[in-house]
Amino acid sequence: MPEKTVQQPLMRDELLPPSRARRRHLISIADLGRPDIERLLGLARTFATSLDRDVKKLPTLRGRTVVSMFYEPSTRTSTSFELAAKRLSADVMSIRASGSSADKGESLKDTALTLGAYDPDIVVIRHTSIGAPDVVARHVDAHVVNAGDGKRQHPTQALLDLFTIDEEFGGVDGIHVAIVGDVLHSRVARSNIQALVLMGAHVTLVGPPTLIPRGIEALGCEVSHDINAIRDADVVYVLRMQRERMEAGANFVPSLREYTARWGVSAERLTKGQRVMHPGPMNRGVEITPDVADAAESLIQRQVRSGLVVRMAVLYDLVTGGPVSAVAPATIREVA
Ligand code: NCD
Repeated sequence: MPEKTVQQPLMRDELLPPSRARRRHLISIADLGRPDIERLLGLARTFATSLDRDVKKLPTLRGRTVVSMFYEPSTRTSTSFELAAKRLSADVMSIRASGSSADKGESLKDTALTLGAYDPDIVVIRHTSIGAPDVVARHVDAHVVNAGDGKRQHPTQALLDLFTIDEEFGGVDGIHVAIVGDVLHSRVARSNIQALVLMGAHVTLVGPPTLIPRGIEALGCEVSHDINAIRDADVVYVLRMQRERMEAGANFVPSLREYTARWGVSAERLTKGQRVMHPGPMNRGVEITPDVADAAESLIQRQVRSGLVVRMAVLYDLVTGGPVSAVAPATIREVA
C-alpha cells in the first residue's frame, strides 16, 4: 500500500487525547460571552449562601485536585483560590516560585510537566509573563485558570468586581465606572474594561496620558485626563501605581508625591454616595487616602469576600462543564 503523504486536516479535538479535548480554561475575559458571565455570577450567588452556614464546606469537588502556582507575590488571589478549592472539598497543592525549583532555574514547562504527573483537575497560575497560562495549558492535562499574567489579564478579578457591583446596585447594566490611575500596567484594568463593557456598564478611564494606553477607547470605554471626571461616576475604581511593571528609568509621573496631588482619590474629590473599589494591594496615601479606603462607601472588603465565592464558581464551572449551551464553545479556549 502506498504511503499516505498528504494528511487530511484534522478537527482540533481529534488532535488532542480524548481527555484533553474536554478541557476548558479561563484565560481571558475575551473568551467569555455575556451568558457565561451571567452563569458564573449566578453560581457565585448560590455559593454565597453557603458562607452564612456554620459548616461552610461543600462536597462538590471531593476527590478533585487543584494545583496553584504563584510566581508573583499575592495575598488576596492566592488565599481565595486556595480557600475556594478547600471549601469545595478539593485536595489543594500550592507552590510559590520562591522555595520551589523555579528558584533553581527550572522552566515553567518542566514545572508544569512535573505537577501534571499528579493528574490535577485544575491548575491556577499567576506569572510575571504574558502567556504563562497558555504554556501550562499546552503541557498539563488540566483546566487552567489565569490568576494574572504580566499586564495582560486577570479574569477572576474582573468577575469578582462585577459580582460586587451587581450586589451593590442590583445590576451592572448602565452603571458608570471610572477607573483611575495606572491603566497602562494593569491587567485588572484590561480585564475589567472588557467585562464591564460586555455587561453594559459605562467605563471612563481617568489618569495622566503617560499611564493610559493610546487607542484603548477601542475596547468601548472613554478616556479623560481630568481627575474631576470621576465625579460623574457611580463607582470610582482606584488602581495601584504598579512600579514593579514599569521599565527601569522610564518616568511615567514626575514623582509619587506629584501623582498623589494630581490623581490621588481623596474625600474632597468624590461626591456624596459614590462607591469606591480597589483590587488591592493598596498604597494608602498614594493613590487613595486612608479615610476613603475605610469609609462606609468603600466596597474594598466586599470585593475580597466576592473573590471567594466567584472563585468557587469558576472552579466548579470548569470541572462540571456548566450547562451545554450554544455559547459554551466561546468559554472554551483549547490551547493545543
Ligand atoms: C492586582 C494584581 O495582582 O494584578 N491585585 C490583585 O490581584 N488583587 C492588582 C495590583 O497588583 O495592583
